[in-house]
Amino acid sequence: MDIGVLGTGRIARRLVAALAESPDGHSIRITRRNAEISAELVARYPARVGRSDDMQAILDASRAVFVCLPGEVALDTLRGLTFRAEQTVISTMMGVRRDDLAAAVAPAHDVCATIPLPFVEQGHCPLPVHPDSGVLRHLLGGTNPVIPVADEARLSAFWAAAGSMASVVGELATIRDWLAARLDDPRAAERYVLALFGGYLQTRPQDGDDRLGEALADLGTPGGLNADMLDAVRATGHYDRVSDELDRLHARLRKDEGPGGA
Ligand SMILES: NC(=O)c1ccc[n+]([C@@H]2O[C@H](COP(=O)([O-])OP(=O)(O)OC[C@H]3O[C@@H](n4cnc5c(N)ncnc54)[C@H](OP(=O)(O)O)[C@@H]3O)[C@@H](O)[C@H]2O)c1
Repeated sequence: MDIGVLGTGRIARRLVAALAESPDGHSIRITRRNAEISAELVARYPARVGRSDDMQAILDASRAVFVCLPGEVALDTLRGLTFRAEQTVISTMMGVRRDDLAAAVAPAHDVCATIPLPFVEQGHCPLPVHPDSGVLRHLLGGTNPVIPVADEARLSAFWAAAGSMASVVGELATIRDWLAARLDDPRAAERYVLALFGGYLQTRPQDGDDRLGEALADLGTPGGLNADMLDAVRATGHYDRVSDELDRLHARLRKDEGPGGA
């Protein structure tokens, strides 16, 4: 498929790599603006990726367009461009209301928003999307689970959940550091923690059937170390706090989306 990507920042870099690696042989045009990233992508995928300063020329040659611009400048930038009715527009942007986006890219009407994370390049990155998009499924669904979301408010909740990643990784880093301080080889602590949690979670089927609840039950042998630690951490109010902080992030996202936003 002919694909245009507007914006060549951190997320575009990973998306373009994912699209260029696809066996479907897509043709991808990107904006030159970030000279370092656009040059890197062209050099890495010379048969797949071309770059241009001319956003309109990129659009004119594209069937599907990923918009990876900073939310603050996106609508003004898009309003200055001419879209076609048959184009699909896929936004990766936080805080841009779909109605505003749809108005800016009209007459294109196949417009959706998704949340790619940098590991989309490697695959297995969940892609919540509102509304559901056959084009997104076609382009990235082969290697990443696509999760249709009913409305914009719910998509904002996925953004908030994604915003919890660093704090969860912070918890793993705490465990690593604690273990490393007790070993001759601190690298063994890092290897152990990543393999322990990564390996364990990978064994859980991703079918939505409360596999986390099942894991908690499996790990929670009464009197065992895991049950002991879980009870102690729960008693501190830690998990209630996590839930409260997710509420706070969600409210912040809804405020950014403005009146009538998600
Ligand atoms: N990073 C992530 O993990 C992530 C994940 C999901 C979604 N997103 C969303 O994706 C969007 C981009 O995020 P990012 O992290 O990739 O940001 P970024 O690294 O700052 O990249 C933004 C890109 O847009 C370009 N740009 C800035 N102003 C422009 C303008 N007026 N006209 C044309 N191009 C312009 C930038 O060019 P310069 O480099 O020259 O400034 C850069 O290429 C954001 O809306 C963000 O919410 C990001």
